[in-house]
Amino acid sequence: MNTPCFIRGLGHCVPESVLTNADFERMVETNDEWIVSRTGIRERHVALKGETCVDLCFGAADKALAQAGMQADELTHVIVATFSPDSVIPSSACMLAHRLGISGRMCMDVSAACSGFLYALETARALLALHPQARVLVAACDIVSSRVDYTDRGTCILFGDGAGAVVLTAEDCGAGCPQVLDVLVSADGAMGDLLTVKGGGSGTPYKLGETIRSDFFVQMNGREVYKHAVRSMSSICAELLQKHGLTPQDVDVFIPHQANLRIVEAVGKRLEMPEAKVFTNLQKYGNTSAASVPLGLSEAVAEGFVKPGHLVLLGTFGGGFTWGSGLIRF
Ligand code: UT7
Repeated sequence: MNTPCFIRGLGHCVPESVLTNADFERMVETNDEWIVSRTGIRERHVALKGETCVDLCFGAADKALAQAGMQADELTHVIVATFSPDSVIPSSACMLAHRLGISGRMCMDVSAACSGFLYALETARALLALHPQARVLVAACDIVSSRVDYTDRGTCILFGDGAGAVVLTAEDCGAGCPQVLDVLVSADGAMGDLLTVKGGGSGTPYKLGETIRSDFFVQMNGREVYKHAVRSMSSICAELLQKHGLTPQDVDVFIPHQANLRIVEAVGKRLEMPEAKVFTNLQKYGNTSAASVPLGLSEAVAEGFVKPGHLVLLGTFGGGFTWGSGLIRF
């Protein structure tokens, strides 16, 4: 039998500044009608005041710990899912633990782009199986704006910054303690070149004094990413439901990766998930990459969209390609 995994606390944090579609009309050749009809996005929170990955992780972790009724020094492991850490070395997890005032724990970053939260959650479940007394903090954050080319209208309008965090234990917190029932994650590197942030990596290094190139920023084939996102996210969600003998009718709330409203609607349709069960907040945050699903989960719970007893299905898709699904009973 699997070691159980309970969510003891949940939190999220976004930067203060907001970029609206009207702001983008002044930056690139675009318009509100195009952005809303192609993506559903109206605004995004962006770290214009210099907030970093660790700042937002700390904000989300602080709320998750408060909800869990725990102090930071009770944590045994710190995992941060991100593709936009404060620095390559030290990792954001090491920096986050330090900011939380703790040391002497396993701290590591997980890189799976927009699927990072579910990859980190699966890692945490494995740690709980090894160490049932563990108290694991998983934070998922991206400052996508640090890797967005704000002259490229095909990508810049899509993304925002944010963080979500959960505190996980094998020990429950009494009746109604949300339990992660299962997680499925997958990847296919053959399609990696369709969505990249390459510049500065050892495959495309920069020399001292060299001007950064466009490969430093998010580059993607939007149409291809769109097709694979719909296919992979819906198939892995269906696979997880089937594994548990469940149907979409059994699901109370579906929280998909908040990339684009058309992708969300297409996945919902494939899964035959009624629109009323699908949570979206991409209209005000855009695509926040690794933060997208935990930010959605945290907001959906705070707003009462997710209620005690609900079965919640999560779905993600991201660069790599990576994708995943998760089931949580509230
Ligand atoms: O976490 C996963 C991250 N990636 C994604 O979520 C991306 C998935 N893909 C998408 O969401 C869509 O492909 C986009 C929203 C990025 C683009 O929508 P599309 O319907 O696939 O448009 P397109 O790329 O085929 O472009 C159609 C037209 C082009 O003009 P022409 O060549 O037809 O004259 C683009 O240049 O729209 C133009 N265009 C824009 N027009 C106004 C591209 N971006 C913009 C823009 N404003 N911001």
